[in-house]
Amino acid sequence: MSTLFQPISLGSMVIKNRFVRSATHDFMGNLDGTISDSEIKLYRTLAQNDVGLIITAHSYVQHPLGRVAPGQNAICDDQFIEGYRRLADTVHEYGAKFVLQISHAGRQFSVPMEGLVPVAPSAVTDNSIGITPRALTEKEIWELIECYTAAMLRAKEAGCDGVQVHIAHGYLLSEFISPYTNKREDQWGGSIENRTRILKEIIVRGRKIVGEAYPVLVKLNTTDGFEGAGYLALEDVIYTAKLLDSLGVVAIEVSGGIKESKKGFAWPGIRTPEKEAYFSTAAKAIKAEVACPVILVGGLRSLAVMESVLERGIADMVALCRPYVKEPDLVKRFSNGQAKVACVSCNACFNPKGIRCNYKDNK
Ligand SMILES: Cc1cc2nc3c(=O)[nH]c(=O)nc-3n(C[C@H](O)[C@H](O)[C@H](O)COP(=O)(O)O)c2cc1C
Repeated sequence: MSTLFQPISLGSMVIKNRFVRSATHDFMGNLDGTISDSEIKLYRTLAQNDVGLIITAHSYVQHPLGRVAPGQNAICDDQFIEGYRRLADTVHEYGAKFVLQISHAGRQFSVPMEGLVPVAPSAVTDNSIGITPRALTEKEIWELIECYTAAMLRAKEAGCDGVQVHIAHGYLLSEFISPYTNKREDQWGGSIENRTRILKEIIVRGRKIVGEAYPVLVKLNTTDGFEGAGYLALEDVIYTAKLLDSLGVVAIEVSGGIKESKKGFAWPGIRTPEKEAYFSTAAKAIKAEVACPVILVGGLRSLAVMESVLERGIADMVALCRPYVKEPDLVKRFSNGQAKVACVSCNACFNPKGIRCNYKDNK
């Protein structure tokens, strides 16, 4: 049997196979940030169809500045625990594992919200939306750390099998690790040791609160999506991955890109095996340096490439996002002999009216 269908442990969490549904904002949350019935239905379908590990949409830890757009799911208050408990219970009925992704928008608002100035490590304009955030104060940074650790505890209280800290895609924590978006001259900026300080505080304090046996995962940016000096360098990413590993993180999901960069994190047009697995080089470099399992995301489309990612020691698990929008029963299809996904990476699933494959509409 292919390794893809064999179990794996992420700390105390045992997952029945190597297939992960990567965190996916589905634009289907209730307007107040709570979980909707459509979301329960979506997660049920994924779990029923053998996805081993389902990671939620990014859920914001602080209101209102942590929110990317209205309708996004929230975990910034205890009132949101109940919805996640319903989701966790649903997923657990089918033997899948369920991890809550926690995030903060930082400077990367999707829809600018009236009267709100986004916060970020530094006041660096986001050219994709033309908005300049204001730099967080020292006091606000400590408040944010508390928001993250409180969200971690809420994930545990909701019965989620673990929590994933979002350090990718240009949102707040990835803004801290990149010298492009972090120009601070205090203890939170400058050297990579300083740029990762906020991560260290969140993970160390969070694990004390949730207990060391509770699985904490991360999704890590490995590039800003821009080449050259002044941007996030692989050397700094490896430092960050080793630090997170040493702090007890149970898995590192390897991703990359910020919205401002041309390709972002969901590259279009992945239609040949050569274009697949576009963060493999970074994943391999990280895997060589850490003890915890590595999850690869980004353009995985054929079973053969996924198998080779595992066989060649690039990663231990494979995470997909867009293909599950079109084929939520993909893992079952793979076990029945289907060799590749139907998704053509056209990105029309980014739909503020609710996620679905809009490929035909798009042609
Ligand atoms: C509609 C949509 C929503 C997404 N939402 C999230 C999210 O909430 N959190 C996250 O970390 N990544 C998010 N992503 C990125 C995916 O998890 C994944 O990293 C990216 O799409 C590449 O994987 P793929 O090629 O399998 O789609 C989203 C991607 C899409 C297309």
